[in-house]
Amino acid sequence: MTDRSLLVLPGDGIGPEVMAEVRKIIDWYGTARGITFDVTEDLVGGCAYDAHGTPLTDATMAKAQEVDAVLLGAVGGPKYDKLDFSVKPERGLLRLRKEMDLFANLRPAQCFDALADFSSLKKDVVAGLDIMIVRELTSGVYFGEPRGIIEEGNERVGINTQRYTESEIDRVARSAFELAMKRNKKLCSMEKANVMESGVLWREVVTEVGKDYPEVELSHMYADAGAMQLTRWPKQFDVIVTDNLFGDLLSDLAAMLTGSLGMLPSASLGAPMANGRPKALYEPVHGSAPDIAGQGKANPIACILSFAMALRYSFDLGDEADRLEKAVEKVLADGKRTADLLGEEGVTPLSTAEMGDAVVEALQAGL
Ligand code: NAD
Ligand code: IPM
Ligand code: MN
Repeated sequence: MTDRSLLVLPGDGIGPEVMAEVRKIIDWYGTARGITFDVTEDLVGGCAYDAHGTPLTDATMAKAQEVDAVLLGAVGGPKYDKLDFSVKPERGLLRLRKEMDLFANLRPAQCFDALADFSSLKKDVVAGLDIMIVRELTSGVYFGEPRGIIEEGNERVGINTQRYTESEIDRVARSAFELAMKRNKKLCSMEKANVMESGVLWREVVTEVGKDYPEVELSHMYADAGAMQLTRWPKQFDVIVTDNLFGDLLSDLAAMLTGSLGMLPSASLGAPMANGRPKALYEPVHGSAPDIAGQGKANPIACILSFAMALRYSFDLGDEADRLEKAVEKVLADGKRTADLLGEEGVTPLSTAEMGDAVVEALQAGL
């Protein structure tokens, strides 16, 4: 037996396709490095709804609370669009985040040299880019009450509430400052303090937390201006901290700086457990990509890099995370591409499985 427990939730659409490639990598670590994981696989999202009538069973939720780390593929799809809100696939993921209290969502956007030409922005704007977005993940407008669709007069009203407590802002700000301390000691906080009270409070609390981190250069930006600056000159940023909804939007935007949404991993971290490691869920930033699901076209790199984040943050295996990230870099440097990254003429795309195999080969070659 091993003490490294992993709950794997492939989910829907391309989720199972990209997760199959991560399983190859997990197997490689066992056989080639003697680093073994106790893996349990289960259902989340639409597939769980099909099997159990709920996107996440209580039993799966309980398992997620027990393991060292959860690895998730993606959830959702057109088949489930008309379901009641309470049982939509996305609710399964939101329940995991909320009940595990995974308040800090780390979304690194790194532009690999081999892909600098591929971005829709000019090469010198993205080459060498390495930024980290810290998205608050368990509060804000995603969870605020009241919410719902109500009748008012002779029409319906859709209601969601943006709500942040001081302690919620404080803890995510601390995570971001801690990360900045380990990086280039620059933190930019994004909100809309010009129009939202929650933004005013956000700015005040982040400024206050900043007094505990005098070495970190703190700046503030309105989130709309932040979106503009991220496309104008993203290299001005090191760490960005922002709320749940702005973080969702800004991280998809940042994904395209790296070449493809299929490249962006994420780690969702909570408070430390008894063993000192944070509660954690790792997942690609992308969704279930219904337009390409079942065709073997999906890029598995975001999911593979999410596993690298698990090695680093949940298993104290930073060197192994580096090894895996270098293998991905090597594969890209060798010109290997899935269809989403094809710009060059005459290059045949790799399938999802071929890309996974190429990463395993690069890992093996690097020993
Ligand atoms: P999406 O991320 O699934 O797809 C957006 C576009 O990016 C599509 O053209 C898709 O083909 C492409 N793409 C995404 N991942 C890719 C990959 N790995 N390789 C190659 N191309 C890739 O977003 P969407 O279409 O807005 O949403 C589809 C479904 O996924 C919805 O039900 C949504 O709620 C859900 N979703 C789930 C998650 C998650 O599980 N964490 C995240 C985002 C969206
Ligand atoms: C993400 C997704 C999710 C979100 C959905 C699927 C609930 O877009 O992880 O970025 O909005 O947080
Ligand atoms: Mn999103």
